[in-house]
Order: sequence, then C-alpha cells, then structure tokens
Amino acid sequence: MARIGKDIAFAKSILESSDLVAIPTETVYGLAGNAFDAKAIARIFEAKNRPYFDPLIAHTSSISRAKTFVQSFPEKAELLAKKFWPGPLTLLLPKKEIIPDIVTSGLDRVAVRVPNHPVALKLLRSLEFPLAAPSANPFGYISPTQSFHVQAQLGEKIDYILEGGACAVGIESTIVGFEKDQPVIYRLGGISVEEIERVIGKVKINAHSSGDPVSPGMLKSHYAPFTRVEIGNIEALQANNMDQKYGILAFSKKYLDDDSENQYILSPDGDLNEAATRLFSGLRHLDALDLDIILTEYVPDEGLGRGINDRLRRASIK
Ligand code: TXA
Ligand code: MG
Repeated sequence: MARIGKDIAFAKSILESSDLVAIPTETVYGLAGNAFDAKAIARIFEAKNRPYFDPLIAHTSSISRAKTFVQSFPEKAELLAKKFWPGPLTLLLPKKEIIPDIVTSGLDRVAVRVPNHPVALKLLRSLEFPLAAPSANPFGYISPTQSFHVQAQLGEKIDYILEGGACAVGIESTIVGFEKDQPVIYRLGGISVEEIERVIGKVKINAHSSGDPVSPGMLKSHYAPFTRVEIGNIEALQANNMDQKYGILAFSKKYLDDDSENQYILSPDGDLNEAATRLFSGLRHLDALDLDIILTEYVPDEGLGRGINDRLRRASIK
C-alpha cells in the first residue's frame, strides 16, 4: 500500500528518481511524474492502464516556468493565464523538444496548468522539472477528490500519496487551445465558459463526446462508475425502475427518506460550486452500494453546471 503523508521533501526525492507520487490539486488528485523523463511518464500510463494515445497535462508553478518548455504563448493565452493561474485552467501550447513525445502522445501541443493548491505549488517550486499528471484513477473510472480515493484504487501501484485534503473545486480543469487565433474549449471544467469569455471574448466549444481518441479528453465513456447510470426526470426514472435496486444522485431536491444511504444530494442549497465538489464523491458512494442502477438528473447548464453535466453524460455512457 502507498503511504499517505505530508512530506514534500520525500515526494521530491521519489520524483527525482523517476518514480510516481499522487499529488493533491484543487480540481482532483493527480498521479505525478517528471514531465522531462520519458521513463517516469511510461510508468504513469502503466499504473493507470491508460492508452498511450491519451496525452498528459504538464503542471508547473508559474507562467515564466511554463515558458521554458513551450515555444510561444499567444496573447489570449497569456491573458487567460494571468487571470486564472494558479487555477483550474489548462492551456494547449506548442511544445519545446524538452517535453518528450510520450507526454503529448506525439502531438505538437503540450497541455499546461498551474494548479491552485498550496501543497502542489510548494512541491512544484522545489523541483527542477514540471510534473506530468493525469487524474489519479484507473483509466475510465471516476476521478479522485480525496487521498483515500487514490489509495483505494492505485495504492498498490505507487509509493506515496501527498495529503492535501478534499479538492476544493472537484471537477477537472477547463482545457483551452487555439486554432489559428480562435480560442477553443476542448473540455468543460473548473473555470466556466462565462468566466473565460469575460476575458477573451467569444470562444468555440468543441467538448462533445466522440470516439476519436485524439480529440482531447473526449473519450465518450469516462468518469464512469461500474453501476449503470441513467439521466432524466428522477420521478419518471423511479417509476420505470420500481423493480430495480436503485440509488439517486440528485441536484438539490430530496426524492427518498432523509436517512436513505441510497440518496446523495449534491447541494441542498442548489449551489453549483458545492455540487461540483461533491459530484465524484457522490458517484463513488453510490457505486459502492451494489445497486442495479444510479438515477440522476442534469443540473442547471450554466457556470460549473456545464462541466458537471458533461461528467454526468459521460458517466452514463457504457
Ligand atoms: O484538473 C485537471 O486537469 C487534472 C489535475 C490532476 O490537474 N488532470 C486531468 O488530467 O484531468 P487527465 O489526464 O485526466 O485529463 C487531461 C486531458 C486528457 O483527456 C487529454 O486528452 C487532454 O487533457 N490533453 C492533454 N494533453 C493534450 C494535448 N497535447 N492535446 C490535446 N489534449 C490534451
Ligand atoms: Mg482523467
């Protein structure tokens, strides 16, 4: 089993020997390795059972550090970085050669992010290299938002998990790239479309499910529990599933008795930020109950709600 602790110097020493450490970020926990070291990166793919065609995000501590491994920083990217870093925003930027091809699955652009978590930032500042880190879950399963989620699934495969508490945002970063000069959102996430458009104007959204593995983060079935998930009007779904052992993941309303463990309410006050922080824990909780089906509903499609709905949609695809 991996040790869980707060020893940043120990984490640093592991990373410097091409090994892996799970790290907290404000979005989800990541499984980190030296982004300049192809051997460490191969270990990440192996531990996650992740296909090599799905590229990784390089985490660093500042814009100036990012510039040491990207060739250019378009003006709009810099505006976004200045506004949202450290934070749940990932930028796709042309990579320098120092980033091994295995990090980007052979693509010319590298995904870059400065996470907003004190432990991650302290670790990153102490290192001479960026950290490639996908979410610390087996490929395709629900992302971890607490250290024990990582322990439960990858504990046998890594030595150390840096403790950083529950993730404050709870869904992954928003991914933004540029096609010519046109900004494109490839994954909806912790920074809302509205917030991004306030800084750089209208953006294109290209974050729909597809079977094309080269489009970023867009593998159809993702963030998926083992239990089947159906989305719709919960009362109608309940009526259709009377003979099933079902659980309910609801936005704010109660559908079952208060004390039923089969019901998980994302935010009793209807707060989308709170709902995002509880989404993956809720799916994990219900997935552990040995149910036939999880019934859920879309949340309002605004702010972080768009990222939440994207995760629900993917969780429902098998
Ligand atoms: O919030 C997050 O972004 C978390 C934390 C740990 O930082 N990380 C995360 O990584 O969600 P991961 O690997 O689970 O998702 C990263 C997504 C992948 O779906 C990948 O396809 C896309 O980013 N991506 C990475 N590099 C890319 C590239 N060069 N071009 C296009 N898409 C890329
Ligand atoms: Mg992931």
